[in-house]
Amino acid sequence: MATVNENYLKLKAGYLFPEIARRVNAFAQENPQAPIIKLGIGDVTEPLPEACRTAMIQAVEDMGDRASFKGYGPEQGYPWLREKIAALDFQSRGCDIDASEIFISDGSKCDTGNILDIFGDNNTIAVTDPVYPVYVDTNVMAGHTGQATESGKYEGLLYLPITAENNFTAEIPSEKVDLIYLCFPNNPTGATATKDHLKAWVDYAKAHEAIIFFDAAYEAFITDPTLPHSIYEIEGARDCAIEFRSFSKNAGFTGTRCALTVVPKTLTAKTSDGTKVELHKLWNRRQSTKFNGVSYIVQRGAEAVYSEAGQAQVKSLVSFYMENAKIICEKLTAAGLTVYGGVNAPYVWVKTPNNLSSWEFFDQLLSQVNVVGTPGSGFGAAGEGYFRISAFNSRENVEEAMRRITEKFKV
Ligand code: MLT
Repeated sequence: MATVNENYLKLKAGYLFPEIARRVNAFAQENPQAPIIKLGIGDVTEPLPEACRTAMIQAVEDMGDRASFKGYGPEQGYPWLREKIAALDFQSRGCDIDASEIFISDGSKCDTGNILDIFGDNNTIAVTDPVYPVYVDTNVMAGHTGQATESGKYEGLLYLPITAENNFTAEIPSEKVDLIYLCFPNNPTGATATKDHLKAWVDYAKAHEAIIFFDAAYEAFITDPTLPHSIYEIEGARDCAIEFRSFSKNAGFTGTRCALTVVPKTLTAKTSDGTKVELHKLWNRRQSTKFNGVSYIVQRGAEAVYSEAGQAQVKSLVSFYMENAKIICEKLTAAGLTVYGGVNAPYVWVKTPNNLSSWEFFDQLLSQVNVVGTPGSGFGAAGEGYFRISAFNSRENVEEAMRRITEKFKV
């Protein structure tokens, strides 16, 4: 009989968001009339920018004509998209990133998981706590951890707590680790990192020959002009960091699928005999073998984000969600709740009222006011006692959800 990858058996229950969906569906079945508002998973609700739609419609037309028809594209993405990203997302901010270092993909969730394919099994790995669960679960699946402990942590991972006390930015560890996951603006806490904070991480990574996985999926939501959008704004980051970006949240591509990963050519890691190997070559080999690229139509849609009209439309989409975040913060604060984030990120991190646990608050919100959020403990042990509210929804739903929550949970 075939055998299974037993690492999967170490995983706790279901992946967080399907688990929430399961509970919400069960509630909805028992209460079919309940007017449920979902502010749980960070899934966009507003239509795709017109510039993206127009470009994709044109791309469909291209596919209808033999002269402009496209079969397999380059596994790394079309040069015209990679060049625009290099110029407008990176070089315009002073980052020394070349188009050839950018790999187009169908999502940052996939890339942050798949990146482990090119790393060895004996790396020491640090994650923040709370953290985007994909980073942890994919390491469990790859056999990089031991079993889950009672506190919900996995043996073998170094957890760096991010709490209100440290302003939700992890302390630089005193021990040596090889791989570090950072996400700024942060999912789930909405915290941001200053240039100085990122510099401290880059210095640490260079001193320990570690690699930083920098998830910048929410960079478009930064409103503070002093904050860095890319880790490559920090000198030396080319030699120690891989950056992940996505069109999901800024341009509403959660259902359309397009993202990118930057693997600088100067980035190396070593073999067991100490030989240095270029990670760009390995990732290129991995992608060419396991991935056939993102569809031409979708890449044309993503390219339109960089047109003048596209830039303006994405900006207004982002502002729309950030206005939602502002409303959430203001209403909850006025009701006496303590909130974090929501200023440079589309997530508001709320201290649960009345000492409720994260899941207790989840259940009460769902059953009493029919609003769905994400329990903080689902992101890690240190998220217990917190609750994440997503700003991705219509204005009407956000206002109605805040009305219901503040009426019931005024403290
Ligand atoms: C979230 O809600 O944390 C995100 O939607 C998850 C994701 O982008 O995969």
